[in-house]
Amino acid sequence: MRKPIIAGNWKMNKTLAEAQSFAEAVKGNVPSNDVVDAVIGSPALFLAPLASNLEGTDVKLAAQNCYFENAGAFTGENSPAAIADLGVQYVIIGHSERREYFHETDEDINKKAKAIFANGMTPIFCCGESLETYEAGQTAEWIEGQITNGLVDLTAEQVSSMVIAYEPIWAIGTGKSADANIADEICGVVRSTVEKLYGSDVASKVRIQYGGSVKPENIAEYMAKENVDGALVGGASLEAESFLALLEAVK
Ligand code: PGA
Repeated sequence: MRKPIIAGNWKMNKTLAEAQSFAEAVKGNVPSNDVVDAVIGSPALFLAPLASNLEGTDVKLAAQNCYFENAGAFTGENSPAAIADLGVQYVIIGHSERREYFHETDEDINKKAKAIFANGMTPIFCCGESLETYEAGQTAEWIEGQITNGLVDLTAEQVSSMVIAYEPIWAIGTGKSADANIADEICGVVRSTVEKLYGSDVASKVRIQYGGSVKPENIAEYMAKENVDGALVGGASLEAESFLALLEAVK
């Protein structure tokens, strides 16, 4: 049985004071992480104070990115070793905004995945197609390619424990969510690609999220689907009330 995982992706939003008041509002109110993993993807700036505030609670933290080297002359980057040292458990990698605006390649993302595992954290690996690819009916091939290239040389044990988020680019922040059947079908493509590469045991363990305009009102439709184990949520994760409502809907 795969445990659901709901991860908020705050993107480049909030001040420290806003981040801390969100943490105060949710920390005693999230369901137990025996039932669901509740994760906040915060800007790197707030990870240290949030980690102290949320220590010992059922709210876990994700960085939204990291570099693939632990230290060195990489001005402006964040070290995965330093992130792990704060007590952060997850790192989102390969988000379409990073691929598109910051030119991240499958190869960069693969190196980041390895660095995240090497530091004892779990990647939330994003994949997703553009509207053009979707309309051309090439989603399955596209997703298969991103997964195959992104997982190069990861072990079966690593892939079993990771999280993969399917986020159609045309559904992110647009209010236009993919129909739950489409989400299930493409999360199924993710799972069968993992199966081809690593076998059925690994495919049955890897957790797959849908992301793209998920809200408290529609999350149950996605979570009812066989291949959807959680959600990666942008806009609707910014308010404490809405984040808690997403978690309530899946527990
Ligand atoms: P959205 O963003 O929920 O605002 O569509 C999802 C994401 O980019 O992870």
